[in-house]
Amino acid sequence: HEEFTKVKNIATIELGRYEIETWYFSPFPPEYNDSVKLYFCEFCLNFMKRKEQLQRHMRKCDLKHPPGDEIYRSGTLSMFEVDGKKNKVYGQNLCYLAKLFLDHKTLYYDVDLFLFYVLCECDDRGCHMVGYFSKEKHSEESYNLACILTLPPYQRKGYGKFLVAFSYELSKKEGKVGTPERPLSDLGLLSYRGYWTRVLLDILKKHKGNISIKELSDMTAIKAEDILATLQSLELIQYRKGQHVICADPKVLDRHLKAAGRSGLEVDISKLIWTPYK
Ligand code: COA
Ligand code: NA
Repeated sequence: HEEFTKVKNIATIELGRYEIETWYFSPFPPEYNDSVKLYFCEFCLNFMKRKEQLQRHMRKCDLKHPPGDEIYRSGTLSMFEVDGKKNKVYGQNLCYLAKLFLDHKTLYYDVDLFLFYVLCECDDRGCHMVGYFSKEKHSEESYNLACILTLPPYQRKGYGKFLVAFSYELSKKEGKVGTPERPLSDLGLLSYRGYWTRVLLDILKKHKGNISIKELSDMTAIKAEDILATLQSLELIQYRKGQHVICADPKVLDRHLKAAGRSGLEVDISKLIWTPYK
């Protein structure tokens, strides 16, 4: 595979008030090949080779948040939905940026087919991107998330869990089950494992009587296969008389819940104002 032989070109980027070391190769256009540092406009995500170019740009750029619709606001946290077809350059810039932190992901430059959900921390200077996930407008495989990224300065603060939870809230509103596109990175898998465990075990703890995987799937929008895999990896599934049986000993559930870690930033669904893409 060609990408594996490519050497990381851009070593650092400047974005808003952060200087960030990159992790992986990203296929910037050839004219950027001789740069080791790129300067990003934190709002439109245009990138430049020189600091003076960025400074000049910042005086002209009148964006103070991602282009697109603000679909969620809670406290200082906002989520914007950007249509890749209406904001092609922004979508492409976001892909170039994201690839710097994504290893094995094939990047889709056909951004027309995607929606980008950009999470921001807002203050009086504007809405500063923290992370995002992308989602195909129409997925045959019921993917509800293609790529997910929390920018390094914001990692390990619960934003990744927020993004994952948000992707499932959108699926619930669509009345569909969803699953992340594979392969997942190690860090991606950790986030999902934690999310699935917490959501499913919280329900099992509260629920009285029998519950099926189908019912769990209907309640959570988590795909049945992911539910089965999660419960199996926790050894909560037994196979009796040709049927899967979920074991829900409260002590066992509590132990797994504790191991699954903190729940992160909660999505307040009363703050989500959104209708599914048609
Ligand atoms: N080391 C060990 N565990 C880690 C970790 C790390 N560096 N980063 C995340 N985790 C695990 C932890 O269990 C963490 O929960 P905890 O902090 O309660 O222990 C959990 O993942 C999620 O943490 P959270 O703070 O919500 O996630 P995040 O904002 O750091 O974002 C990713 C998680 C995956 C989005 C982020 O690591 C990322 O952008 N990685 C690069 C891009 C990528 O790999 N995307 C996935 C492609 S499928
Ligand atoms: Na990945």
